[in-house]
Amino acid sequence: FKAPEILNEPMKGYGPGSPERKGLQDAIAQMEKELPFEVPCVVNGKEVKTGKLAKQPLPWDHANHLCTYHEADPATVESAIKGALAAKAEWEAMPWNDRAAIFLKAADLVSGKYRYKLMAATILGQGKNAWQAEIDAAAELSDFLRFGVKYVEELYAVQPPRNTAGSWNRVEYRALEGFVLAVSPFNFTAIGGNLPGAPALVGNTVVWKPSPAATYSNYIVYKIFEEAGVPPGVIQFVPGPPEEVVGQAIAHPEFAALHFTGSTFVFKKLWKDIASNLDNYKGYPRIVGETGGKNFHMVHPSAEVKNAVLQTVRAAFEYQGQKCSALSRLYVPASLWNNGFKDQLLTEVAKLKVGSYQDFSAFIGPVIGRPAYTKIIDYIQKAKSAGGEILIGGTGDDSKGYYVQPTVILTKDPKSVTMVEEIFGPVLTVYVYEDDAWDETLTLIDTTTQYGLTGSIFSTDRKALIYATNRLRNAAGNVYYNEKCTGAVVGQQPFGGARASGTNDKAGSMAIFYRFVSARSIKENF
Ligand code: ALA
Repeated sequence: FKAPEILNEPMKGYGPGSPERKGLQDAIAQMEKELPFEVPCVVNGKEVKTGKLAKQPLPWDHANHLCTYHEADPATVESAIKGALAAKAEWEAMPWNDRAAIFLKAADLVSGKYRYKLMAATILGQGKNAWQAEIDAAAELSDFLRFGVKYVEELYAVQPPRNTAGSWNRVEYRALEGFVLAVSPFNFTAIGGNLPGAPALVGNTVVWKPSPAATYSNYIVYKIFEEAGVPPGVIQFVPGPPEEVVGQAIAHPEFAALHFTGSTFVFKKLWKDIASNLDNYKGYPRIVGETGGKNFHMVHPSAEVKNAVLQTVRAAFEYQGQKCSALSRLYVPASLWNNGFKDQLLTEVAKLKVGSYQDFSAFIGPVIGRPAYTKIIDYIQKAKSAGGEILIGGTGDDSKGYYVQPTVILTKDPKSVTMVEEIFGPVLTVYVYEDDAWDETLTLIDTTTQYGLTGSIFSTDRKALIYATNRLRNAAGNVYYNEKCTGAVVGQQPFGGARASGTNDKAGSMAIFYRFVSARSIKENF
């Protein structure tokens, strides 16, 4: 058995008058007509309605909500864990080609039958525009599922290179003993699917707590897994109050792994909680997390200005700066800044239209919710108070949705708060360095934040690219030359960062699957 050739899902265009735009608009209109949806927990394939209700508001219009969901209560979490443990033996024993077929079918359902529905839920609930939803809910999600099959097939084939005469050595990749807890974020529906999906593909069973702000799209993903043939109990869908659900799961003696994407603060807390529970577990839990970022563009004096400007605008402002990979600190040499870079940057940012999903020409939508809005506006105020100059934007409007104008701040202090702390919003801070201070500026990039996720270097000088790449060895897990620091593609750029950005286990690569298996060596003498 060998999996079929795996290719990246081709991206669709949503140009005016195109059938894709029509298809998506119809799905959105249908969803608008039917909302708010009711979302249950799903345990052992059965809906559980706890009656403890919470809402997922529309970031575009906070008076309305996309769904009301039943929050998992302690009894539901307990039965989800029990059910996951009970389902494990059969799932793990299922022949690999059948598990693989289920995931390949799920991928086809994502990219085919449910493409527009998933995108509509991502647009309405998570504030994406059509293109950002396409990248995420259609392309990246199906890529995660399909490439996962390819990587696991390759992983299973990794065997000891030597056998002595009369014996055979082999390695078997077991699923972890116990259950896996997946805790997923609001900002990518694809990550929502991959966090439970990756451990499940190698035979684990998973308790999945989605982000409250992505409940509905994640529920659709759950239903796709179910329709594709993932058996009851293998992925347990338990939305609910994060601290309670997660706290209960990690306190369980059969807790085997955490697969997490979210904030650095929460991840560190969970790590400590897990450490303090260590004596209660059967083994050492695997902890896999992708957390914050404070991502940079370093522009060298030799850079091509137009390209650097356009890539900067996309990296900083696509999806309102809410990708973990989003650009938020820009370093430009004075020679370029004063000779076109600044003007071109401000001209391009001024063109970004802020608006609703009904307007396909709107580049910027709302940020995810009230706490995010308040935090972003606070950061802009802090930057101003610290002497930062707002070059464009700087304001917000939360009367209907949570809109923040794309904002560019110029700072003279490379260690000012918006150069250091993660904001997770459409705010770019620029530091202009003297051309002869390139070397010191590389040190600044490397040392002023605790993170190490993504970064780009813009230069037409190969020596400068090599030099900066060496100097910034640990400053980013994903480095780009002359391209934006967002948009890693599954199967092309394994994604993740170290330092406070995560365990760098590289989503979209074979590496991540190693974390969710426990190998067993078998030697047989003939
Ligand atoms: N993987 C996503 C990106 O690279 C977060 O933008």
